[in-house]
Amino acid sequence: MAIEQQVAEIEADAGKAIASASDEAALEAIRVAELGKKGRVSLLMRELGGMSPEQRQIAGPALNGLKDRLTATLNARKADLELAALNKRLESEREDLTLPPRFEPVGALHPVMQVFEELAAIFADMGFAVAEGPDIEDDFHNFTALNFPAGHPAREMHDTFFMKPAADGTRKLLRTHTSPIQVRAMLSSKPPIRVIAPGRVYRKDWDATHTPMFHQIEGLVVDETVHMGHLKTCLTEAFSRFFEVPTTQSRFRPHFFPFTEPSAEMDIRCDRSGGEIKIGQGDDWLEILGCGMIHPNVLKSCGIDPEKYQGFAFGLGVDRLAMLKYGMPDLRPYFEADVEWIKHYGFKPWLLPTVTGGLS
Ligand code: PHE
Repeated sequence: MAIEQQVAEIEADAGKAIASASDEAALEAIRVAELGKKGRVSLLMRELGGMSPEQRQIAGPALNGLKDRLTATLNARKADLELAALNKRLESEREDLTLPPRFEPVGALHPVMQVFEELAAIFADMGFAVAEGPDIEDDFHNFTALNFPAGHPAREMHDTFFMKPAADGTRKLLRTHTSPIQVRAMLSSKPPIRVIAPGRVYRKDWDATHTPMFHQIEGLVVDETVHMGHLKTCLTEAFSRFFEVPTTQSRFRPHFFPFTEPSAEMDIRCDRSGGEIKIGQGDDWLEILGCGMIHPNVLKSCGIDPEKYQGFAFGLGVDRLAMLKYGMPDLRPYFEADVEWIKHYGFKPWLLPTVTGGLS
């Protein structure tokens, strides 16, 4: 049989087999039968050696061409089969993303963050913006600008965490209160100023009611005619809203802070007779925050003229406030990252508190 005819036969034959091969194993069997060591094409190629040069000149290119075309057809079919297999797998593994989730999400807003949000909503309604500052502070913002004299024992009062001293001998520190944010707010904006500043603060303290990191909210108002009466009304109103009672009564006890004059601690009326604390009634008092009129030295340090402006400031501990409002008996689980605890005491993160829509 002429070589051209043999090539045409093999090509037609193998082409049909390749087209109908249903998987990679069948394809491999065809490859072995045609191009393998004892395959039809290979056997024909072996005969080239015994041919005359004229015959070889025709048969050589014909066989090589056949080999190339069969290899190409086999590869193309292999790629088709692989793609089909992949599509089939993808089809069977398909997820319907429009189905509702099978599990309740476990994440929840920590009560401390919830209280931040609630107070931000209450004070925003009174025209306060939210300010922030860094956790790592310097002596100027945390102490000096707040009228703590150098070497004054009030600096020790806060049990400060200091960083290693820098080359010039200065030491950064973890802020001991949110009051340095007052300083930053006054340095970076002009009165009238009305801000609250939530944040983490740090002191060397560790027992049932103290953790070395805790949370405060600072409040600051600077304007020309601000006085103690504004401070009192603003805070009393804020706590009525926060505890969701019609009114709270408050009293202000004289106190000392280097950065306020006069300074006071604010108590709100409560009832402890039934075992748990009820706010807004009873004959007891609950200490809730520190406050006062901003000391003229602080205004001066922050570039504000104390002859023209005055202001009030307050700072409160958020962790204890959250315990109070949401009846959590112990502070320590706050920071233990216990999923069961957060499931029980946490809040849905998408239900942001608002003054009009409800706080909690
Ligand atoms: N910074 C004070 C503290 O941490 C609280 C405070 C703030 C008091 C602002 C008065 C005015 O104890």
